[in-house]
Amino acid sequence: MVGAVALTANEKFMLERYKRTGGSGLDHGCGDGRLVGLLASDGYDFWGAESYYGSEDFRETSGARTAAGARDRIRLLGDDFRIPFDDDTFDSVCSNQVIEHVEDLRLTVRELARVTKRGGVGIHLFPVRETVVEPHLGVPLYHRMPSSLRRPLARRWHKAGRANFCREEPDFDLWYRQLGPFFESSVRLRPARTVLREMKREFEVRPVEIEKLAFHRGHAVPALPGLVPLEHRRVGMAVEARRPAVSPDSSRAVSGQMASSSTSASPRSSSMRRTSSR
Ligand SMILES: C[S@@+](CC[C@H](N)C(=O)[O-])C[C@H]1O[C@@H](n2cnc3c(N)ncnc32)[C@H](O)[C@@H]1O
Repeated sequence: MVGAVALTANEKFMLERYKRTGGSGLDHGCGDGRLVGLLASDGYDFWGAESYYGSEDFRETSGARTAAGARDRIRLLGDDFRIPFDDDTFDSVCSNQVIEHVEDLRLTVRELARVTKRGGVGIHLFPVRETVVEPHLGVPLYHRMPSSLRRPLARRWHKAGRANFCREEPDFDLWYRQLGPFFESSVRLRPARTVLREMKREFEVRPVEIEKLAFHRGHAVPALPGLVPLEHRRVGMAVEARRPAVSPDSSRAVSGQMASSSTSASPRSSSMRRTSSR
């Protein structure tokens, strides 16, 4: 518990990382807004954005569960999945278990970058295709099975009492009627390298799986070879994404200018050198 709010282990990691940065923050896909409510009540300039899976029903049921203090701080994404905040708004933008749901990853990453200030940083935690247990149903390798084998596999796991929510819904057909279609329509477990490639288009990316593990364990963890891929199989990826302080376009333009000016003895080239050494 942090204050009166029970945060998940991932949220505690996000909270600790956000507090290192401070300033304005966004939890993208904030769900019921636990983190938003907690930080806003403590006086932080922290906001949420939600799509509610584009479903009016889901929006109503989730809306009813919205955390205290978060109600006026969560903005609804439009059908175009644009994040409803201005450019360069936040010092820190984070997400937990959201990247695997977005339909258009490139658009979402671009949006995450757009609302982040230059030099701003955030943490994104999400399962990937390599993750062994499909985290929504709690069924191992469900997402890697051909469609025809998914239902029988889920039935076995549910019958064994190992699937998510199987105690709450012991009738397999009723259980699967909810989770099977949800998986097909809203879960997109992409390979780790695909997500990294997309994030690197907009951000300087740093894997933080080992730091996250150390945070949860409460002691340092040696960066053994193979540990990061193992974490991807166990729980997914943990990525720190920093928006470059200078736009890649303008830095390319400056280095191009410097290259051409260094071959001429123009007065401009000496002023460039003065500026760059300041
Ligand atoms: C598994 S929940 C995680 C919620 C919350 N981050 C948490 O840790 O409890 C995934 C959330 O992502 C939201 N979501 C799905 N697609 C999204 C998108 N394209 N943009 C923003 N949020 C999205 C869903 O509405 C849902 O609330």
